[in-house]
Amino acid sequence: MKYLILNKDLREQDCLKELQSNSVQLILTSPPYFNARDYEKHANLPPLIQNAKLSQNLSTQEKTLIHYQNYLKEMRDIFIRLKRLLKQSGYIIIVISDICSNKIHFPLSFHFFNILSEFFIWEDTIIWDKTIELDDRKLHSQRYLYQPFSFYYKPNWSHEYIFIFKKSSDIKQSDYIKDPLFHKQSFITNFSRSIWKIEPIPPDLQDVHPARFPLEIPHHLVKYFSNKGDVVFDCFAGFGTTLLEALRLGRIAVGNDYQKHYCDLIERNIKTFQRDPDFFTDQVKLYRMKMIIRTLKKRGLTKIQIQKHLLKRKFQEDLICKAINYYFYTTSAE
Ligand SMILES: C[S@@+](CC[C@H](N)C(=O)[O-])C[C@H]1O[C@@H](n2cnc3c(N)ncnc32)[C@H](O)[C@@H]1O
Repeated sequence: MKYLILNKDLREQDCLKELQSNSVQLILTSPPYFNARDYEKHANLPPLIQNAKLSQNLSTQEKTLIHYQNYLKEMRDIFIRLKRLLKQSGYIIIVISDICSNKIHFPLSFHFFNILSEFFIWEDTIIWDKTIELDDRKLHSQRYLYQPFSFYYKPNWSHEYIFIFKKSSDIKQSDYIKDPLFHKQSFITNFSRSIWKIEPIPPDLQDVHPARFPLEIPHHLVKYFSNKGDVVFDCFAGFGTTLLEALRLGRIAVGNDYQKHYCDLIERNIKTFQRDPDFFTDQVKLYRMKMIIRTLKKRGLTKIQIQKHLLKRKFQEDLICKAINYYFYTTSAE
């Protein structure tokens, strides 16, 4: 298993100099969503923001708008740097959603789409449907927060965008090698359409990293947009989800994060994965089952009825037994 973990701040000019030009087949990442970052702490604020900080007259919302413009500019500069790394046949794929900060809605996805279009060729868009079945808590809050009255309507955002771009339009036929592990039926059922329904990482597992994407996302994208032995790079690697799936599929995994403790976490996660390749997939499944068990228990279903429901949802029998033993009797599942 070949991998490399870098600890660089991508806003710095020479941050990626140790990676060779034209060496990466796939950049797959989920950038920091604007409001997750504390821009006030930046030492290197551009003049516009320094002026804004000096000005006492600007409202919080006006400052937020200026910060947002600065953030987009930084992201644009990062994508320019990333382009050098991609092979001619390479792809760049980002997972992104819109955000709300200081009561302003930012169509972050569409702004990223525009930035990427400047440097790469658009290939496809996939909608990641994040709907969680049987999540009574969400339905409950939705009823009160999002009233369907005129001008009060606000849908509960339950999707993200997966934007697929490529570096060049001349992809050679020889770049395609058929994957013998490709499972046709599951592909047709779940991934042949432009809407992928994948439940997000359960909240209980977001404590080590707050913005992990589910393993299924890199698993399928790495499979469809690279070959064995190719380099797959996640430049905002976080928990290291992309690296884990890249390694599972026999790719060379490269990750970067500017937080040292996330780099250490990725290193630990890779070690765990090397000992037990199913550890993280099973862990996510167990916590997804925990949420289902909690909801169905509240609805008054018996243990047998819950077991049947989980079987219908195609969880493996041994994992169902484990989940029922862990969560059916414990208060934490209530
Ligand atoms: C949305 S998270 C990515 C999560 C990842 N896809 C996963 O499944 O764990 C974005 C990551 O980018 C990192 N990051 C933010 N700004 C950065 C920068 N300027 N340079 C490098 N990494 C950065 C954050 O520390 C965070 O872990």
